[in-house]
Amino acid sequence: EFTQRIFSGVQPSGNLHLGNYLGAVRRWVKLQDDYPCIFCVVDLHAITVYQDPEALEHATREVAAAYLAAGIDPQQHIVFNQSRVPEHAELAWLFNCIVRLGWLNRMTQFKDKAGKDKEAASAGLYVYPTLMAADILAYRATHVPVGDDQKQHLELTRDIAAKFNHDYADRIAAKGLGVTMQMGEETVEGYFPLTEPLIDGPATRVMSLRDGSKKMSKSDPSDLSRINLTDDADQIAKKIRKAKTDPDALPSEVAGLAGRAEADNLVGIFAALAGRAKADVLAEYGGRQFSEFKPVVADLAVAVLAPISAEMRRYLADPAGIDAILRDGAERARAIASQTIAETKSIMGL
Ligand code: ADP
Ligand code: NA
Repeated sequence: EFTQRIFSGVQPSGNLHLGNYLGAVRRWVKLQDDYPCIFCVVDLHAITVYQDPEALEHATREVAAAYLAAGIDPQQHIVFNQSRVPEHAELAWLFNCIVRLGWLNRMTQFKDKAGKDKEAASAGLYVYPTLMAADILAYRATHVPVGDDQKQHLELTRDIAAKFNHDYADRIAAKGLGVTMQMGEETVEGYFPLTEPLIDGPATRVMSLRDGSKKMSKSDPSDLSRINLTDDADQIAKKIRKAKTDPDALPSEVAGLAGRAEADNLVGIFAALAGRAKADVLAEYGGRQFSEFKPVVADLAVAVLAPISAEMRRYLADPAGIDAILRDGAERARAIASQTIAETKSIMGL
């Protein structure tokens, strides 16, 4: 039986926000009971765009603190930062030689993140999906709980794994390194699993509070566009009060949210925070104005986030303590990743 394992990560490129929490970290906490998990602070991904070094050091600890504050157990599972495990970068190189340019050219996130002047983007930003494949496959992880925004990258990870399994099928067999994996309906033969996205319930995609067509993101220059996990009650209330909406009242059914991205987003945020369905929320609040609904959303956001940010501050008061947890996690991660690298290289003739 091939071990089922989860890998996931967040970039330390700034403040963790509500999208990261609802779309990622909160779901990880639940998965800990069902799978061995590896949760990474992906600092090598962060530097695909320039990061101030001191801010990066701080953000790395802050993301780790958020994992711990949200309830990730670093003893039962593995919490570390990517750059402490050199096997990620090494496997990424091997995969850069597997991935096809055409595959990378299809990635929509590069187009979004590189902006207008593609020539000025770093080469790292372009091959970011290869590094993500290496992150996952260094542990031969079978499942990745990703947000909607990362689905395309996960498909690329599967394409890389499948091409590797195919191109080196004879060597994998000759070395006795092949495994048979039951991936959903499919039986897969090879060295790397075809990692699956783990979707529990409707995929949560939290959009910017200023523009319902863009996802809430750390890299958005407008701080009003996102709720950070470290925001205090006043900041949260202010950002929700200033959130872009439309002049109409809330509809009483989900269908009424069509074409109203900002309204849909606020209802979605409230529903996710409350653990309720949108339909249920609209049954209660349909017909109300946003001036009435916004304070309700703000109160709930504060109630959910305040205990987490208090816990984060407690961890951050002891940076050496966080570093010790990350070092210990990196050692345990390396024990797995170094074996994968050794086997991958021997399969490839290196
Ligand atoms: P960002 O885009 O803010 O830099 P990351 O790329 O570090 O965030 O993403 C970390 C995790 O958080 C991923 O699993 C991603 O799917 C999830 N995530 C990021 N932004 C959102 C969002 N707006 N809504 C839902 N999930 C999100
Ligand atoms: Na992202």
